[in-house]
Amino acid sequence: MLTARDLSVNYGSKPVLRGVDLTAHPGQLTAIVGPNGSGKSTALKAVTGELPFIGDVRLSGMDVAHARPGDLASVRAVLPQFTPLAFPFTVLEVVRLGVSRGATFNCDQIVNEALHRVGLDGYQGRYFQELSGGEQQRVQLARVLVQVWQPVGDDGPRWLFLDEPVSSLDIGHQLQIMQVARTFADMGGGVIAVMHDLNLTAMFADKVVLFSNGGVVSQGTATEVFTDDMLMQAYGCRIAVSMAPSSGPFILPQTAALNI
Ligand SMILES: Nc1ncnc2c1ncn2[C@@H]1O[C@H](COP(=O)(O)OP(=O)(O)OP(=O)(O)O)[C@@H](O)[C@H]1O
Ligand SMILES: [Mg+2]
Repeated sequence: MLTARDLSVNYGSKPVLRGVDLTAHPGQLTAIVGPNGSGKSTALKAVTGELPFIGDVRLSGMDVAHARPGDLASVRAVLPQFTPLAFPFTVLEVVRLGVSRGATFNCDQIVNEALHRVGLDGYQGRYFQELSGGEQQRVQLARVLVQVWQPVGDDGPRWLFLDEPVSSLDIGHQLQIMQVARTFADMGGGVIAVMHDLNLTAMFADKVVLFSNGGVVSQGTATEVFTDDMLMQAYGCRIAVSMAPSSGPFILPQTAALNI
């Protein structure tokens, strides 16, 4: 389980996150949504131990503030929102970066399988910098998948933290990648994904956490969190939430109704 209690983060003297309480469970896909600048990436970096924070964060019982980087890396992998690469690495080299030192499994087989899962068969020898934005995003996802290949290890669940994993993808690849994340959770791992697409979120997430102004304003199922009023308050525009009989809520922005 992931629990964050009274989590606060300052950048210099500027408070960015204030008193955030957050829980996520293995076996579930938890989505973090909210407007630009509301603190989603900051929260993700804090709970993964990549940013100093005030408060208490436990990941599968591990005290994240005091955990050794190697111990954290063995239980959780992080896909950042931006992953620029300064050197001319091939796809194979980038994905191999996810393989932990001393790994006993057949590394190349798993790298190839990860590339297959993200729809990049045959890309091994291509240069990362010569790929399209969406292809690069899927290579980086393959890298983090390789890092926590087994959703459940001998010592418990593994975790995927994904900051906008489908932001550059076409609709077909959005569905493919969300299904990869969903399968990881169904096999017992934990997934926390920052999302902007509320419809994809409603389709795939077990739990939704809505951020606004550096705090959590609502958390629960998509049906509980996605209400016209709550979305209007958070995003400052009119958004109509309807229910599809088979697939739950769907969200339709109301054009020409901006309130910002
Ligand atoms: N390194 C930094 N130094 C100072 N302020 C920062 C830094 N990184 C982020 N911020 C500020 O912190 C706030 C939260 O940023 P964060 O990146 O967490 O937002 P976000 O919810 O992920 O937004 P987006 O949807 O645009 O990715 C913003 O006001 C941002 O300007
Ligand atoms: Mg962000």
